[in-house]
Amino acid sequence: MRNEIETWQTGHGDMPPEAFEHWGEDVVRWIAEYLSQPEGFPVLSRARPGALIDTLPGEAPDDPEPMGTILDDFRQSILPGITHWNHPRFFAYFAISGSAPGILGEMLAAALNVNAMLWRTSPAATELETVTLGWLRRLLGLPDEFVGVIYDTASISTLVGVAAARQAALPEVRITGLSGLPPLCLYCSEQAHSSVEKAAITLGIGQTGVRKIPADERYRMDAAALRDAITADNAAGFRPFCVVATVGTTSTTSVDPVAPIADICADHDLWLHVDAAYGGIPAMLPEKRWALAGVERADSLVVNPHKWLFTPIDLSAFYTRRADIVREAFSLVPAYLTSREEDVINYMDYGPQLGRRFRALKLWFILRAYGRTGIERRLREHLRLAHEFASWVEGTDDWELLAPVPFATVCFRYAPRDLDGDALNRLNEEILADVNAAGDVFLSHTVLQGVYTLRLSVGNIRTTEQDVLRAWEGVRRAAERVSQSAPR
Ligand SMILES: Cc1ncc(COP(=O)(O)O)c(C=O)c1O
Repeated sequence: MRNEIETWQTGHGDMPPEAFEHWGEDVVRWIAEYLSQPEGFPVLSRARPGALIDTLPGEAPDDPEPMGTILDDFRQSILPGITHWNHPRFFAYFAISGSAPGILGEMLAAALNVNAMLWRTSPAATELETVTLGWLRRLLGLPDEFVGVIYDTASISTLVGVAAARQAALPEVRITGLSGLPPLCLYCSEQAHSSVEKAAITLGIGQTGVRKIPADERYRMDAAALRDAITADNAAGFRPFCVVATVGTTSTTSVDPVAPIADICADHDLWLHVDAAYGGIPAMLPEKRWALAGVERADSLVVNPHKWLFTPIDLSAFYTRRADIVREAFSLVPAYLTSREEDVINYMDYGPQLGRRFRALKLWFILRAYGRTGIERRLREHLRLAHEFASWVEGTDDWELLAPVPFATVCFRYAPRDLDGDALNRLNEEILADVNAAGDVFLSHTVLQGVYTLRLSVGNIRTTEQDVLRAWEGVRRAAERVSQSAPR
């Protein structure tokens, strides 16, 4: 049967339940084996560009193909081109996890295939979104007046926050567009994520409308410089409308001073959006709650369960105290989408998209399967592992930390005393390429004030102390190899 065409394939309708069960068992068995040993694969795919395109036919098949053949091809052709984000030694960017309870929730959501655009198009999908985001809000210690909406990514959550800010500043904008209105200015730190600038591009504010406020020596937005920039723009005839503060910047995970920034926003009547995509989740821990100080005064904020809450990508949680403005910015109901229910939320009213996946289901599975204490235990372990790694760096001659470590991301480099400037940058770039080529660990980089910086982020649910130790040994061995082969 494995490599034969089944009768249902040449008839009408879908795969029958018995066949689904058969292939479903096959797939679930494969997933279970894979999750028990993702380190059986090189963490960073070794595929060359175009390899898969060259392997697969240029045309879709005319006739049905056996399910067994499709699954065999998944293993043989697709897997070599996969970079394994589930690998316990994935330390690049922000490490994430497709946890088993999350995968089960995702499977059921795929099976139900509901579109949660209106309450009536799946009441439970809408209400579970309200309930799970309420749970998450309380876990984060946010005030009850924050209303949550699930989007796919933090980039879209921030786009929605900035669109709402624009709507609050210029209510006529949704009718007239921006032409004839004063030029808008949006403020964020020079360390803010590129999604902020992309939101400005998308919303017609343009890159010239984005003011990147300098950061201090700990990579936090300089609030005094923010105040000066707003004053100068007001005097020059611009229209400041929004500040985006970051809790957990992408490069170093620094935390902007949200409370003083909220004061400035209040003085100038500006919308405050907080990008806590990364730093919001660890703020569940009482000892990290400081990271959200002042966030209760934000107009909107984003946290990303798909970053560090073991949630299969994608799921971003957007919260706002001013849901009425978000609705004003986006709600547009054609006749075919009107419905008679009152006192219900139709989530299509709170963003640009109509169709919506049932993402809340996987978050509900995760919050219940781990519970608050289970989540806290795992987050604390990741913090411990990252600090351990940082202590190894600090305790070793020739290696140095390049930024504080408030969470579980470490910025560091190899810095032998006889080298500096560009030579050190080149050396560290080579070290990163060398250690990643070995396939045992995957780290990424950033550039801080012109310094090429290695970055290790702990966040995968399967990562252990042994894995972090292997990363440390891996970079040290790479440093030796590269130093020996490079002319000084
Ligand atoms: C601080 C911060 N904000 C936003 C984003 C964008 O996240 P997403 O991929 O969910 O759009 C990232 C990505 O790493 C980030 O680090």
